[in-house]
Amino acid sequence: MKIAIAASECAPFAKTGGLSDVIGSLPKALAKLGCEVKVFLPKYSVINEAQYPMRLDLSIGEMQVRVGGIPRTVHALKSKLPNSDVDIYFIDCPHYFHRARIYTSDWDEDERFILFQKSVIEALQRLQWAPDVIHCNDWQTGLLPLLLRDNYGWDRLFHKTATVLSVHNIAYQGWFPRESGYRAELRQEHLDKGGLAEWGGGVNFLKTGLATADVLTTVSETYAREILTQEYGYGMEVVLKWRKGDLFGILNGIDDETWNPQTDRFIPFHFSAENLEGKEKNKRFLLDQTTINYNPDVPLIGIVSRMVWQKGFDLIEREVYWLMQKNAQWVILGSGEDRFENFFNWMAHEYPHKVWAYIGFNTELAHLIEAGADMFLMPSRYEPCGLNQMYSLRYGTVPIARKTGGLADTVLDWDEYAYRGQLIGNGFTFEEPSGFALSHAVHRAIEAYRNKPLWRRIQQNGMKRDFSWTNSARKYIEVYKLAKAKRS
Ligand code: ADP
Ligand code: GLC
Repeated sequence: MKIAIAASECAPFAKTGGLSDVIGSLPKALAKLGCEVKVFLPKYSVINEAQYPMRLDLSIGEMQVRVGGIPRTVHALKSKLPNSDVDIYFIDCPHYFHRARIYTSDWDEDERFILFQKSVIEALQRLQWAPDVIHCNDWQTGLLPLLLRDNYGWDRLFHKTATVLSVHNIAYQGWFPRESGYRAELRQEHLDKGGLAEWGGGVNFLKTGLATADVLTTVSETYAREILTQEYGYGMEVVLKWRKGDLFGILNGIDDETWNPQTDRFIPFHFSAENLEGKEKNKRFLLDQTTINYNPDVPLIGIVSRMVWQKGFDLIEREVYWLMQKNAQWVILGSGEDRFENFFNWMAHEYPHKVWAYIGFNTELAHLIEAGADMFLMPSRYEPCGLNQMYSLRYGTVPIARKTGGLADTVLDWDEYAYRGQLIGNGFTFEEPSGFALSHAVHRAIEAYRNKPLWRRIQQNGMKRDFSWTNSARKYIEVYKLAKAKRS
């Protein structure tokens, strides 16, 4: 099957969160299963050309792509996803993508991704490559299914091409004023009240995709159910209600070359489920670089995250005095909203021998925390999938997580399952989004940590589970087939 994947992030080239990890690894798994895959990504200036060999694709050549009536010059640079034979095309348009950040709050943020989506379609035309499926991801590619059908519907090349839209986070929708629809050259009827692209008088890119893609997916089974409700749907539950039959939850996999404690190139000591000695050495190595003294009897809790409301850090805020009385140490890495950055800086300043915080984005440190910490905290208010808990499980770092979305599908509470006589728990979970519930789960984890054989069991339960992409990639292929069947 021929699959084109369009997205706004792809590891290792451009990353702000988990979407990037997914787009960096799913295509490789699909290729292993026999698909022919081409990935499309904007050529942001944060992508270091010197680091990744890429060359101008001459068969695509110079394109003039119109946004709001103005033609922009676009080239495509071709490269491969590292350690694979999968083609990746970087849509190069300096006017829109040579900016300090991947996402901006500039007035023309909509135009940036309108240009990207049209360029993907026009690049496919130039390549004369008709994919069976164009797999879109999040709002930045939400208009693509409609553009393909409508604006480029004249091109017979795409008559059998189906579209799939994956929702990685339904709260980010790309909701712009109505003019945005004119800039994308959508037909008037789609912008009128009740039209395919219309939302609250404006244009909503994600909603357009949810209404028009042949098949929809999201990144865990639980989240697929949650987004049908008002609490989690951010308004889109109204649209999803009539697309329920076309919506599938497929849990993300992890890139088990990048995230493997036996080979990880970012950590000094390798380890495995059978031999965890290296893990303890990583803990010491990590703590030596902080204000905290190493103590094998005190558990180290790690956090690596975007610091935004979604991640539930306000629950830590509310409970901080109680949490600080517990016998645990904390290493925190993240960046995002000032409120949370300031809070974690304050914690580190107030409790220097218990808490160390690094505000910023640092991939090497992320790996070291996964390897060196004993526990990993994710109190998310909602979590479509979450990758860090899976990295943690793989690294013998026991997750403490709120039972929502992908966390509910991957983290099994030790006590809950033990109570039923099943010793299969791999972490600690809590349901209610409250400081008290969080604190109670942390307390249970700390208690369990004191019992070494028990702790070893919990760690190993997590390390044994297979989170590789193979299973999930197979499910995507099934979904692609369903989408394709709608077009033949
Ligand atoms: P989300 O996509 O909502 O941010 P995920 O758990 O799916 O959450 O993915 C987050 C990814 O981003 C992980 O690979 C994580 O290691 C990485 N990450 C998040 N914050 C940082 C940071 N400050 N430094 C390095 N990596 C980070
Ligand atoms: C989003 C979600 C996260 C998910 C990631 C990859 O960023 O917040 O839960 O793991 O996408 O699908």
